[in-house]
Amino acid sequence: MNERPILEIKDLHVSYGAIKALNNVSLYIEEGEIVSVIGSNGAGKSTLMQAIMGLVPRERGEIFLKGEPLARKSYQVINQGITLTPEGRQVFAPLTVYENLMMGAFSRKDRDKLEEDMNWIFSLFPILKERQQQYAGTLSGGEQQMLAIARSLMSRPKILLLDEPSLGLAPIIIKDIFEELRRINAEKVTILLVEQNARQALKLSHRVYVIQTGNIILQGDSKELLSHPDVEAAYLGLRKKSAIPCD
Ligand SMILES: Nc1ncnc2c1ncn2[C@@H]1O[C@H](COP(=O)(O)OP(=O)(O)OP(=O)(O)O)[C@@H](O)[C@H]1O
Ligand SMILES: [Mg+2]
Repeated sequence: MNERPILEIKDLHVSYGAIKALNNVSLYIEEGEIVSVIGSNGAGKSTLMQAIMGLVPRERGEIFLKGEPLARKSYQVINQGITLTPEGRQVFAPLTVYENLMMGAFSRKDRDKLEEDMNWIFSLFPILKERQQQYAGTLSGGEQQMLAIARSLMSRPKILLLDEPSLGLAPIIIKDIFEELRRINAEKVTILLVEQNARQALKLSHRVYVIQTGNIILQGDSKELLSHPDVEAAYLGLRKKSAIPCD
């Protein structure tokens, strides 16, 4: 008998007043996968994340975690094992790195495990260990993104939702962050990533969904979609042909 996917979204609709932000969105994530959702500005990516987290109400549709209905209040969703690293990072600027990390663990009852998990975080992000006492607001953009991800991991999620972790960062830093996500996934954290940076998202993830004005218009294996003509034209930019053949 096949196990149900770790997360299943069925026919999800979300509206803001007259604006329909998600229209009949269905997707699934298997345990251990990295799944990305790519789409341009206003496509509904953040709304999807917020609907999973219970931060915006679902108009219609169902969400299941391992076959069980997902809670609708965000603190319950966190307790069920899902955490969001929000768009724009949103670290607590006047708090130190250490205090930010502790904030990520606020919902946990197993307080005796926190030190062990802090060490786990520091092994993933050594820079945060060095900067434990630095105010988060004084970190660089890339360091703040690392802190935001690390803070999410302090709740020990089964599924980590990431809303545009590459936003506003230099390509070299984006590469580091995405490498880090690969390592986090290898530590048994299932990842749902939404991105405008389609190329990086496709390279990192196993499968991808393409969202356009609230509708999933395409889905498949990331490797296959990397060479899909529609994806290439709309999201990856057309490849420049070299005037001088290289081979
Ligand atoms: N609080 C809100 N009130 C009204 N409309 C909203 C609200 N939040 C989002 N929208 C609208 O819903 C649609 C989807 O927005 P959403 O933020 O989910 O897109 P996105 O794909 O995350 O975009 P971006 O890449 O710019 O972050 C947009 O048309 C947006 O204007
Ligand atoms: Mg967004």
